[in-house]
Order: sequence, then structure tokens, then C-alpha cells
Amino acid sequence: MAAFFIPAGYVQGQPAKDNSNEYRNGMVVCAYPDAALAGLNVLKKGGNAVDAAVAVQFALAVTLPEAGNIGGGGFMVYRPAKGAANTLDFREKAPGAASQNMYLDSAGNVIPAMSLSTHRASGVPGSVDGMVEAHRKYGRLKWEELVQPAIDLARGGFKITKRLAEDLNRNGADFRRLNEGKNYLIKDTPWQQGDLLVQEDLAKTLEQIRDKGRAGFYEGEVAEELVGEMQNGKGLISRTDLKNYHSVWRKALTGSYKGYKIITMPPPSSGGIALLQLLQSVEKYPLSRWGFNRDSTVQLLVEAERRVYADRSKYLGDPDFYKVPTDSLLRPAYNRLRMSSFSWDMATASASIQPGTFAGYESDQTTHYSIVDRQGNAVAITTTLNGSFGSKIFVRRGGFLLNNEMDDFSSKPGVPNMFGLVGGKANSIQPGKRMLSSMTPTIIEKDGKLFMVVGTPGGSTIITSVFQTILNVIEFNQNMQQAVESKRFHHQWLPDVVYIEQTAIDSLARVKLEQKGYKIVEGGPSGRVDAILKTKSGYYEGGADPRGDDTKLGW
Ligand code: DON
Repeated sequence: MAAFFIPAGYVQGQPAKDNSNEYRNGMVVCAYPDAALAGLNVLKKGGNAVDAAVAVQFALAVTLPEAGNIGGGGFMVYRPAKGAANTLDFREKAPGAASQNMYLDSAGNVIPAMSLSTHRASGVPGSVDGMVEAHRKYGRLKWEELVQPAIDLARGGFKITKRLAEDLNRNGADFRRLNEGKNYLIKDTPWQQGDLLVQEDLAKTLEQIRDKGRAGFYEGEVAEELVGEMQNGKGLISRTDLKNYHSVWRKALTGSYKGYKIITMPPPSSGGIALLQLLQSVEKYPLSRWGFNRDSTVQLLVEAERRVYADRSKYLGDPDFYKVPTDSLLRPAYNRLRMSSFSWDMATASASIQPGTFAGYESDQTTHYSIVDRQGNAVAITTTLNGSFGSKIFVRRGGFLLNNEMDDFSSKPGVPNMFGLVGGKANSIQPGKRMLSSMTPTIIEKDGKLFMVVGTPGGSTIITSVFQTILNVIEFNQNMQQAVESKRFHHQWLPDVVYIEQTAIDSLARVKLEQKGYKIVEGGPSGRVDAILKTKSGYYEGGADPRGDDTKLGW
């Protein structure tokens, strides 16, 4: 690959754990080592945080096929060192031919897996337009230079990590079942750590994007391949849908917590509103005195989460289609009142318990990256195909996977989606509408200065993981790496269960909570938080989640 700077200790095919926190000039924390390196090199060449983000996004589309993408979408929160913060919504949209009941059978029941693993599961992709827009508005280096590292990784290949080898092996049967013929993720013998993954078709698609910008994806050869793939599998995305796709700049959502300013993503993500509601709900309690993951702390956070996710199910959706009552939801008195209904003696019962299947713990399916540059500009981007490898359907000859983001809509009121989340009218399917998200890219300021950049994958658990990571630093004095590594727990109103990572809560706290009626279920790792903290002495301190191949590189 065309890297001109390889940090000491960096071995291709292995997550790079750079534990130095002595960086003043910039930092990239993302989910795959080669992508982090692509971003760092852009920073070292004089690119700003947005330039580096473009390089990381495309490099992840090559090196993290589970979640990095050009066939998906995402959100960016940007805080320049000088000037106003901004956010970019490059979330997928429902195709023009989509309709409210498109996943229901004639009896009105949801057809299993139709919104997950068919051509109809895909929304119109937003990532390429998002990168073009972000670069047009804030980029400094030439576009071609930022896409090129991804082309080199796709054409020259890169050595895969153990985790990626296992993911590819686990999904091989699905790739075969859902696609005709061969593609680059299918191999006759099992993948192994260190194997070279070469993606020539993807390299060609990326060259179109390098040379023609948005037209290289939304028009011309690549668009024809995508539409052809749709026609082949009864999908809905048309030429017009692609041509009409545009990402949207939206005013950043801001709030505060104990003097910190929180800058986060507005709808169509639910993440920002929910995060601010959660912070308001717990602000007046002495969390730091109770301590990290003690029974009172867990109980309070769970009760706040229960209430906030109940609001999410009813009030949140695409603001271009549904009037989201943002101001009412973010009134401190409202959230205080909601919390007044809980008792320390007993768990509040969620109104009724739905038989939701909870899949939030399979966390390779979305990805978040945090970047800061020499000037102090900061970028938080969370991007996704939704499920792991999206719909697992390739655009043939395009060399890329399509998302299954349509499952984030509410297919039918009250019926849980793959994350067990329920919704109604606010998040019903309409042509051209964006499906509600939980992605929560967030930047925090203290005394007018940059303090933290944070975000994570994890479906419905994204919001609670970001919430807990922030509290770990502000309330429990953890450094960035500890805050990211700390074990997490999660409640989402329905199902009425507290999900915990193993050892997240000690046995004494657990018994106390169970006596009060909390149903505690232990699951696998939750989220992959990648974050950066600006320390008091002006250094950047990274937190790269050891739950994945996440890597922090700085200079
Ligand atoms: O936008 C959302 O909320 C989901 N599509 C995110 C999916 C996700 O995080 C999967 N990763 N575990």
C-alpha cells in the first residue's frame, strides 16, 4: 500500500495497539488498523480531520466489509476549532417505490427476514454523497488523494485479521446462498489470519468515485450495476432514486451536562435526543459518590434508559416527514418528572413485555471513527450497512455490499425489528423517508474547548454505550482507554430486561438488583467505542475498543 508512514510496532493483519498518549498533532481511532493508517497519513500530509475522515470511510469500505461501506449510510458530527459545529445526515432513504406495508403478507403479518436479507431490504445508499459533501464544504486536500489509499488497499490487497477471517467464514454460506456466482469474499478453503484479501471490482468502483465524485456512484456504470442487481432480485432502488439522493446538513443538536456542552446528531437519528434525555435524567444524582457500576448507579441508569427508549418508540422518526417534538423531549423539567415515577425499592415494570429478539450484541455491523487534527478540528462519524455485511447481497461487478437498513423502519406498529426496537407512525415506511437510527456520533466541549469525540456501533445499545462511556470519564474519572474498555449494560424499555456484559456488575450488586425485580441477562461484548479525549495538558488520548480490531494512531 502507498503508506509513507508506518508507526513502530505496526504489523499488517493485526490490530495495532499504540498506547502512547503523547500526541498533540492529531489522532485517528477506528475499527481497522489499515484504515487508521490511511487516516493518519492524510493528517500527516497536512489534511484536516474531514480529509482524514474521507480516507478512513473509503478505507473501511475495503478493510471492514461487515460495516465499512459505500453501499450504506451514516452521520457525521463536525466541530471545527473555530466556528460553528455542524452535522451531516447521509442516512439511506426508502426507495420511491417503497410503501408502508411492503413487508406484510396478505394477513397483515410481517414476512420474516424480508427487511433483512432480500434486495428489498436496501435503502438508497448515502455514504458516497456524504463524503463528497463533507469534502466539498470542509476538505482541504484533493479528493483523488483521499480515495486513492482505499483503491490501493482493494487492488493490492491487505492482510486480514483473525476476527475478519472468522467473520468471513461464518458468513460464507450466506454469501453463496444470496448471490449468484463467485465474489471476492467467497473462498473454497477457510479464511485464515494473514490471508491477502484482494478486491479488484471494488477497486474499479472506487476509481469511478475518485475520478467522477458523486456521479461515479449515483450515475454511469456503477449505478447501472446497482440498478441491474435490483432488477435481478426484485429490489426497488431505481436510477431516479440514485440520482435524487442527497445528504442533508442539519443543525447540530446541543445540550449540557454539569457544565460540559454536548454536540450530537439530531433526527433521523434517535441517538442525540436520547443521549441528552438520559444525561438530563441522571444529572442531579450523585453518581461519582455511588461509584462505577454499583447497584444504585445501575438502577438509576436503567430506569432512565427504560423511560427514554419508551419515548423513542413513539416520538422519533425522520424530521422531514414527521414532526419530532424535540423541544418537549429535551425540557429538563420533563425528564426530571419522568424520573420522579421510579422507586428505589422496586423495578418499574415496562408497560407490557414484547417477545423481542435482541441482537444488539453482535457488534461488528456498524462502525464508528473519531478523528482530530492539528488545528483541533474534530470529526465523529458512525456509518453502517445495518446488519453484519448488510443484506449480504453484492452488486455484481461493483464489488460492494448493499445495506439492509430498511429494517430500521417500523414494519408494523409494535412489532420489534432485529434489535428488538418497536415503533409506530413516526418511523413508518414512506417513499423517500429516512429510517430512524440509534447512531450517536458525539463531540463534547468543556469551557468552550474540545473535550471528547465519541461514538460506537451496537444497534439499539449504541445510545447506552455512548452514555456510559461519557459518564465513565466525567463521573468516574476513567481515562479514555479505560472508559472504552469498561464493561457496559443496557436497557431499552422493551423487552424489560437488563442486558449486561460478563462481569459488568459484581455479584452483590446483581443480587440487590434482582431482589428489586430486575431481570438481568448476561450477553456477549457490547459495542466498539472509539473515542478521543483532549487532556488538560493538551494531548490527545485515544480509546480504541479491544472488543474489535480497533486501532488508535496519532502523531
Ligand atoms: O442506524 C442504526 O441504529 C442501526 N442500523 C445500527 C446498526 C448497528 O449498529 C449494528 N451493529 N451492531
